[in-house]
Amino acid sequence: MAKLAIIYGTGFGNTGIMAKAIEEGAKSAGLDVMIKNVQDATPADVEKVDAIAIGLATYKGAGMPGVIKYVESLGKLQLKNKVGTAFGSYGWSGEGPKVIANMLKGYGMNVIEPPLRIKRTPEAEGIEECRNLGKRIADMISG
Ligand SMILES: Cc1cc2nc3c(=O)[nH]c(=O)nc-3n(C[C@H](O)[C@H](O)[C@H](O)COP(=O)(O)O)c2cc1C
Repeated sequence: MAKLAIIYGTGFGNTGIMAKAIEEGAKSAGLDVMIKNVQDATPADVEKVDAIAIGLATYKGAGMPGVIKYVESLGKLQLKNKVGTAFGSYGWSGEGPKVIANMLKGYGMNVIEPPLRIKRTPEAEGIEECRNLGKRIADMISG
């Protein structure tokens, strides 16, 4: 079974809601999904997966530093040609997911663009977009 790891950072829970909806979509399409808050994640968590989805909220014009540090720590892994994507909740500028998407591209990953960004708390439509992203990842890495 193809594997997806979802690692996310959230201050007030909005990006966490996105992460869980991506998980739902991916599971419904048959993926084996591991989901972790970045505080509990290590690089080993993504070493053996086929796709990585990184979520983070934007604060003060930047992505959450803990998530950026985590993605920096992935530089020592072999991620070339794996599927990667970034997502996150934001208020007005939403830099975080763009920064992460560029980092993943720098690792030679096959990055889904543009990153999925949702303003504030995801409503039904946003949740559906997240589920669809999970399904899209499944399409890219299954069989
Ligand atoms: C102190 C503070 C600073 C923020 N700075 C930004 C910012 O620079 N750009 C932006 O797009 N949103 C900014 N936001 C809005 C958050 O990104 C938004 O509330 C988002 O939904 C938080 O996601 P989370 O619940 O996953 O932490 C800021 C929010 C707070 C409380």
